[in-house]
Amino acid sequence: MYTQSFTVGDGKQNKPVPLTASTEDPLKQAAFDAKIDADGRIEPQDWMPDAYRKTLVRQISQHAHSEIVGMLPEGNWISRAPSLKRKAILIAKVQDEGGHGLYLYSAAETLGVSRDKLLGDLHSGRAKYSSIFNYPTLNWADVGVIGWLVDGAAIMNQIPLCRCSYGPYARAMVRVCKEESFHQRQGYEALLVMMKGTAEQRAMVQDAVNRWWWKCLAMFGPPDADSPNSVQGTRWGIKRISNDDLRQKFIDATVPQAQVLGVSLPDPDLKWNAQRGHHDYGRIDWDEFWNTVNGNGPCNKERLATRVKAHDDGQWVREAALAYARKQQARATQEAA
Ligand SMILES: [Fe+2]
Ligand SMILES: [Fe+2]
Repeated sequence: MYTQSFTVGDGKQNKPVPLTASTEDPLKQAAFDAKIDADGRIEPQDWMPDAYRKTLVRQISQHAHSEIVGMLPEGNWISRAPSLKRKAILIAKVQDEGGHGLYLYSAAETLGVSRDKLLGDLHSGRAKYSSIFNYPTLNWADVGVIGWLVDGAAIMNQIPLCRCSYGPYARAMVRVCKEESFHQRQGYEALLVMMKGTAEQRAMVQDAVNRWWWKCLAMFGPPDADSPNSVQGTRWGIKRISNDDLRQKFIDATVPQAQVLGVSLPDPDLKWNAQRGHHDYGRIDWDEFWNTVNGNGPCNKERLATRVKAHDDGQWVREAALAYARKQQARATQEAA
């Protein structure tokens, strides 16, 4: 679903990653810089500066965590979907998100970090995931709005990552974006159907839009002026478009979709600015955003507890898979002898 790389939890979120480390071998550094400047791809076996590796591990793992935690708010609605068709679509979408997490953990592992370590950091609360999943899904319209707006925002964020300088991450994003496009469309279509229904159904959709709109705008991360890490990310070819530019693209794309749907967006300052050629919009509540990122949103504890329980409940599956793999290996060794 989503990616923003934050350095949080230690009060240093506004401290920039040091620019290209001076302790690195200058010849290797020059070859790396030349490859980045030529818009080439860095592959796992290539030399890379330690700060580049660390930034990618943080960003890719946060992205992976967001995918698997993102399964929870919607997974909650699988048993309550209003029809067999909606249930089948929702199951497929939630499974896709699990798959995105797996691609991304695999991409992170190519940087020399183990999946166990990454999951341990998530489960202990040390690692972060997208703050959007710390809000509750109160009714069926929330599932549609998550598809339309949350997955829609994720697509805006992730399309530029298909051209990210790190090969495994960029390639994973190509497939992820195709699936996110299905997620966005199924959500929008579900809402279109509700908007043609009863007054209560239309009110449910509007209520869900009102609750999710501002949180989706915050998904693009802090304003550019407060995102010094973005400068280094751009220099490294990891970040291609700034937070504010992505947010603006999302708003400009979403306003006409809201009109077709027949819902209003809850921002009295939202209006077309002919001079800029973009929509102007109101102030995002960043205090609420950071409060949620730092663990104090309405569902942070519940999400983490559910994730840890799912991991613990799956322990026997991992043990059985390992035992089976060992048996297969022993048999292959015996046959080869
Ligand atoms: Fe998605
Ligand atoms: Fe996803």
